[in-house]
Amino acid sequence: MGERFIEEKEAYTVAVVGATGAVGATMLEILAERDFPISELIPVASSRSAGSVVEYKGKEYIVQDLETFDPTGVDIALFSAGGDTSKTHAPRFAEAGCYVVDNSSAWRMDEDIALVVPEVNPQALEMARNNKIIANPNCSTIQMVVALKPLHDAAPIERVVVSTYQAVSGAGGKAMDELAKQTAQLINGQSTDVDVFPARIAFNVIPHIDVFMDDGYTKEERKMMDETCKIMGADIAVTATTARVPVFYGHSESVNVTFSGPMNAEKARALLADAEGVCVVDDPDGEDYPMPSEAAGTDHVWVGRIRDDHSYPNSLHLWVVADNVRKGAALNAVQIAEILIQQQ
Ligand code: A2P
Repeated sequence: MGERFIEEKEAYTVAVVGATGAVGATMLEILAERDFPISELIPVASSRSAGSVVEYKGKEYIVQDLETFDPTGVDIALFSAGGDTSKTHAPRFAEAGCYVVDNSSAWRMDEDIALVVPEVNPQALEMARNNKIIANPNCSTIQMVVALKPLHDAAPIERVVVSTYQAVSGAGGKAMDELAKQTAQLINGQSTDVDVFPARIAFNVIPHIDVFMDDGYTKEERKMMDETCKIMGADIAVTATTARVPVFYGHSESVNVTFSGPMNAEKARALLADAEGVCVVDDPDGEDYPMPSEAAGTDHVWVGRIRDDHSYPNSLHLWVVADNVRKGAALNAVQIAEILIQQQ
């Protein structure tokens, strides 16, 4: 047996940084649902919401101000408060001896930082023993690699072409408010206010997530391309187009995969049916396939529309859907925290 990450205790001190946000609130829900052993729960956010309360297991907890919060004695901190916040404060928590699971993109591609999806590369957590910071991958990347890993283990993947249809919750609580408000405005014949997104999101599709880079890709697309290779530990040619759609919860992805050896839809369906964290819903006759309306609120990565790509050898199409706030963020972070408290 290996050494534990955190010394064994009956229960642990856990801080949720960004506890008032969309992902933070779901982190609290999932910690409660999974009965994570917590002796002290500390919700943390900015000075804007310090002093307000959040609920956990029916009790109210006062939100602390991150700027003045002393992390001494915290065992695990789940961060979801943006990249700049995490760049400044995650090292401060780590130096105080706390493991940080960070949902932002601040540390993901740092070569000394573990980027972990428990179903795919839990072994990468070993990297965190010294620096104590673990990066939670991008939401679209997480659901894609959970579906790709069992296939890659059977026949190495050469190339992936992915297009995403991403829910507004991925952009936070204010983004969800914006979709709701614009929808009401349009239905009532009013003009719309555009604030969070680069264009109107209600009754629209925006092929622009995060900032544009010099090569014409967006940073969201770059994250999917780079993070997939780091998590899978393989030099896979990945190219992505990411789009925002007017859906509240649940990212969908059209994924085209080319393998270096024999692979077909039937074999892929069997491999995915047995894969950890995956649920196959693939019944064209019954018109049954994964959709965000059904994936929202669930923990699985749903895969359907599995079919051979007749245009190229050893290539498949997959349709991959998951709750982006749960498996794409909060659940993945809590699963990492669960490994941190287990006997290795
Ligand atoms: P606050 O409510 O105090 O602004 P979302 O992704 O839904 O927009 O939520 C972002 C979360 O990150 C919120 O909990 C927010 O807290 C928190 N946050 C944002 N900026 C900071 C900061 N500078 N320091 C601490 N928490 C922050």
